Amino acid sequence: MALSGGRNVAVVGATGAVGEVLLRLLEERQFPVAELRPLASQRSAGSTLAFAGEPVEVQQARPEAFEGMDFVFFAATGGLSRELAPEVARRGAIAIDKSSTWRLDEQVPLVVPEVNGEALEKHRGIVASPNCTTIGFVMALEPLRRAVGIRSVVVTTLQAVSGAGHPGLEELSRQLEAVARGEEPQARTFAAPIAGNAVPLCERFLEDGYSSEEMKLLHETRKIMGLPRLDVSMTCIRVPVPVGHGATMLVETERPLSPAQAREACARFPGVRVVDEPGRDLFPTPRDAAGQDDVLVGRIRKDLGSDRLWLWQVSDNLRKGAATNAIQIAEAMIERGLR
Ligand SMILES: NC(=O)c1ccc[n+]([C@@H]2O[C@H](COP(=O)([O-])OP(=O)(O)OC[C@H]3O[C@@H](n4cnc5c(N)ncnc54)[C@H](OP(=O)(O)O)[C@@H]3O)[C@@H](O)[C@H]2O)c1
Repeated sequence: MALSGGRNVAVVGATGAVGEVLLRLLEERQFPVAELRPLASQRSAGSTLAFAGEPVEVQQARPEAFEGMDFVFFAATGGLSRELAPEVARRGAIAIDKSSTWRLDEQVPLVVPEVNGEALEKHRGIVASPNCTTIGFVMALEPLRRAVGIRSVVVTTLQAVSGAGHPGLEELSRQLEAVARGEEPQARTFAAPIAGNAVPLCERFLEDGYSSEEMKLLHETRKIMGLPRLDVSMTCIRVPVPVGHGATMLVETERPLSPAQAREACARFPGVRVVDEPGRDLFPTPRDAAGQDDVLVGRIRKDLGSDRLWLWQVSDNLRKGAATNAIQIAEAMIERGLR
């Protein structure tokens, strides 16, 4: 898609796992960048990054750095988004935030463009991009909702270590090396060793036994889909996969939908690709999703004891789960004449 007119773009957290992918995708999608300003903490200020074949110096993220910008992507910490996103809005620019800070704020649209792009019309300078797990989840649910309505979902996620950024990726590499040396893997970033393991806790526990990640999945899904009473039962699990979040989903629909009709509805939906041919052992895996923007859906089948449908869905948590969705928000705002 060719968008005309240059826009000034800043990326807060440009040196992080999501920030790096965001810079690459701005180039890949030919986002109309007039000026790029990579921002990070004092630790990285003064270092250089390559953008569009040129070296660009990383600056410290401070309010003054937002002067003259059109879009400021936040891919750093929640605290920084809370402090600095209002500074962006105050300067008349648009903050697109990847942290959880603003997602449930009633004044802030929480957007997956294919699902609820119209919510952008009500923005007041800050737009939130959902959690990486939520994005793949709603992308797989929305085609079914549009076809026949949905009533409830039971979901178990299998989440990649890069969901915890560079520290998560480094933890898996370090532990795999330790295991290869015959040593016990030591956990730092995750609550238990992740090499050769599966950890049924993403982020931290809340008082009721659910994790903060699980509650994000519930509340963000309800807000994006505009279904405040949607029944979601969820368990989030961290697995030793570098990139690509998966989720197995048992969906109760309002009206009956056959697996063939579900496949057709998903295949028609922009940004979703069906990979589902049991006869040829064809199903999507996190490795297939890594490096792709599409959400891949497969293993669509009827539940044996009810009319519900099973689906398996995978997506690249750093691309559609983070950077791609954030850039699509900016693209949609340009297309809607909001910038
Ligand atoms: N990873 C995912 O799959 C994913 C998906 C969706 C959303 N997110 C969200 O995206 C954000 C970034 O995650 P990540 O995975 O990319 O983390 P990361 O790899 O740890 O990168 C963190 C980035 O934030 C910068 N930063 C940290 N403290 C800062 C400060 N005080 N001032 C300015 N910059 C600061 C770091 O800069 P330095 O180089 O200077 O330290 C680095 O560029 C988080 O809010 C996360 O929740 C991540």
